[in-house]
Amino acid sequence: CDPYATVSLVGPSRNDQKKTKVKKKTSNPQFNETFYFEVTRSSSYTKKSQFQVEEEDIEKLEVRVDLWNNGNLVQDVFLGEIKVPVKVLRNDSFQAWYLLQPRENGNKSSKTDDLGSLRLNICYTEDCVLPSEYYASLRNLLLKSSDVQPISASAAYILSEVCRDKYDAVLPLVRLLLHHHKLVPFVAAVAELDLKDTQEANTVFRGNSLATRCVDEMMKIVGKHYLKVTLKPVIDEICESPKPCEIDPIKLREGDNVEINMENLRYYVDKVFREIVRSSISCPTLMCDVFYSLRHLAAKRFPNDPHVQYSAVSSFVFLRFFAVAVVSPHTFHLRPHHPDAQTSRTLTLISKAIQTLGSWGSLTKSKLSSFKETFMCEFFKAFQEEKFTESVKKFLDDVSSTESKEPSGLSEPVHLKEGEMYKRAQGRTRIGKKNFKKRWFCLTSREFTYHKQQEPIFTIPIKNILAVEKLDESSFNKKNMFQILHGEKPLYIQANNCVEASEWIEALCRVTRCNQKRLSFYHPSAFLNGNWLCCKATLENTVGCARCTADVPADTQIEIDGDRETERIYSLFTINMSKLQKLEEACGSIAVYQGPRKEPDDYSNFTIEDSVATFHTLKQIIDIVEKLNESHEKYRKKRSSSAKYGSELHCRNVSFMQYIYGL
Ligand SMILES: *[C@@H]1O[C@H](CO)[C@@H](O)[C@H](O)[C@H]1NC(C)=O
Ligand SMILES: *[C@@H]1O[C@H](CO)[C@@H](O)[C@H](O)[C@H]1NC(C)=O
Ligand SMILES: *[C@@H]1O[C@H](CO)[C@@H](O)[C@H](O)[C@H]1NC(C)=O
Ligand SMILES: *[C@@H]1O[C@H](CO)[C@@H](O)[C@H](O)[C@H]1NC(C)=O
Ligand SMILES: *[C@@H]1O[C@H](CO)[C@@H](O)[C@H](O)[C@H]1NC(C)=O
Ligand SMILES: *[C@@H]1O[C@H](CO)[C@@H](O)[C@H](O)[C@H]1NC(C)=O
Repeated sequence: CDPYATVSLVGPSRNDQKKTKVKKKTSNPQFNETFYFEVTRSSSYTKKSQFQVEEEDIEKLEVRVDLWNNGNLVQDVFLGEIKVPVKVLRNDSFQAWYLLQPRENGNKSSKTDDLGSLRLNICYTEDCVLPSEYYASLRNLLLKSSDVQPISASAAYILSEVCRDKYDAVLPLVRLLLHHHKLVPFVAAVAELDLKDTQEANTVFRGNSLATRCVDEMMKIVGKHYLKVTLKPVIDEICESPKPCEIDPIKLREGDNVEINMENLRYYVDKVFREIVRSSISCPTLMCDVFYSLRHLAAKRFPNDPHVQYSAVSSFVFLRFFAVAVVSPHTFHLRPHHPDAQTSRTLTLISKAIQTLGSWGSLTKSKLSSFKETFMCEFFKAFQEEKFTESVKKFLDDVSSTESKEPSGLSEPVHLKEGEMYKRAQGRTRIGKKNFKKRWFCLTSREFTYHKQQEPIFTIPIKNILAVEKLDESSFNKKNMFQILHGEKPLYIQANNCVEASEWIEALCRVTRCNQKRLSFYHPSAFLNGNWLCCKATLENTVGCARCTADVPADTQIEIDGDRETERIYSLFTINMSKLQKLEEACGSIAVYQGPRKEPDDYSNFTIEDSVATFHTLKQIIDIVEKLNESHEKYRKKRSSSAKYGSELHCRNVSFMQYIYGL
């Protein structure tokens, strides 16, 4: 048969189902796939109730694995299932054979042992997250990483050095830095270190360094919505009504027409490509900021290479973001499951083509001669034209630079806005109805026929806009107000209704998201009668008292629990304590003896640029981790001796599950 399995974590309020690949023609499948499920009670995650341990939740959860025969054209046949309650998994890792069971309430009369068995490796990890104040010192140490010189002496960098598998460290680190708005400077600092080791301009950001992994993770978290609006429709089309696209003569099957296939593939590639190059308007601010700094760092490192500024950005946005999402849409939540084998092959071909087209913007000339395979040469002939290179460049400019001639994305007519609203007269402070006048507004990038052929009374260049935010109703006792901060007095506008207000805010935020002088803080209320109504500050130029909302992508719900991430980092340091101590010794001896290290030792793979600074940070980490260990140990003892645990110390249990299975 052609078996596959679905793996789910089932509970009263959840049922996340994932699927393995289909194994062809075997009754001895080895799936060898890993699935992660996070138990975070997402609905109550951000509320106060997160501090109460809901024991029942975990009690009711179970892992379910259903085995199916893939029917291709007929209905899939159920082969058996396994259910494992999570509570029996409390004791760490489980690897065992499980007998497949018939489906509950089903009419199958087959005996249990007829169904065969499956071996699962299930690992359940429960972290105990103490209240926030316990983690303050570790959090502060990690957050100031980007200020440490050299960056290799920072706590965040050391974390990545002591974890054998960098991925373990990068995920909590990126989430923590993101949560505290510290990611961009940290990425810039590690990217600079990465560039120092890069000898050739055409290999920038191609390896797996701390910098590239941080950006990868950031794009996965922050770019989720962006990816969805850009690619989901076309990926759905490809997966739901696939056309044959094989162009490799060796892989062609009976009856395949290579000409038609090539046409199909071109159609898909062209469509995906076009969606990408016109998507810059949706690219989240944070991604733009990171790309901006990578581009400038790369150009600084290779000042004589005019293309490196493009390849630096392209290697992320095309190679590590779009191309990866095209080839495995299920891991980016674009599709619920693995695509089938033929669709997978189609997606692989599209992804390769997108990578190639994406790197053309950074080459002087597209080099057809670089293809080994003649069929690839043949295929790319259609994409040879200048306009493909130009649109890649324009896209890369739009997502990474402030200096593009037109504000990015404004050529999209859908974002053009024109409307009648009320504007407060500039410069007056007395509150009154008279101060507001009806005005026409237009957001445009080119010559515009103004309402009633009038010249505009006032224009604000988009590049001067520092923030666009709502304005508290209390300021002028008016609803649907928003403000445009642009260096001079804020422009206060009342929209006709809340929909219009949000549309304007969104459109303005989008076109200004790459403005480098964008503010991080603003005042939610107006400055009236000598003070800011919101924070009561009396100086008009006082820095804002609330964080700008455009700083985080408004359309992305990033739910990050800073304490939970700090706790994970603490655990990583704890289990790697011996490495921390070795590194400390190494720094100590280098500092004392001044000489280079002699014999290659356990720490020979660590980067130690400045042994004194690194030693200093290590000492801080070790001290903090030891103190935290005490608190955690105390809690563990208390927990094992008290029946109703969790309530007193307000400790949250956050669980993390992992399954590996195969037969
Ligand atoms: C299963 O995965 C492990 C680790 O990725 C690998 O070493 C092993 O060869 C795989 N086995 C099969 C049968 O694919
Ligand atoms: C977990 O381990 C402890 C001791 O190691 C044992 O007493 C207990 O029965 C185990 N619990 C389960 C559910 O296997
Ligand atoms: C089981 O059989 C009964 C009658 O024999 C039928 O009504 C019912 O729909 C069947 N259930 C399933 C799940 O096939
Ligand atoms: C260090 O951390 C990694 C996680 O990346 C873990 O796999 C490893 O077992 C830890 N301990 C040591 C001694 O390397
Ligand atoms: C944490 O504390 C326990 C108990 O005091 C001790 O056995 C363990 O070695 C400590 N771990 C670290 C990393 O300090
Ligand atoms: C250092 O790195 C090399 C190559 O990456 C590896 O073979 C070696 O085992 C590493 N040494 C230690 C002590 O981790």
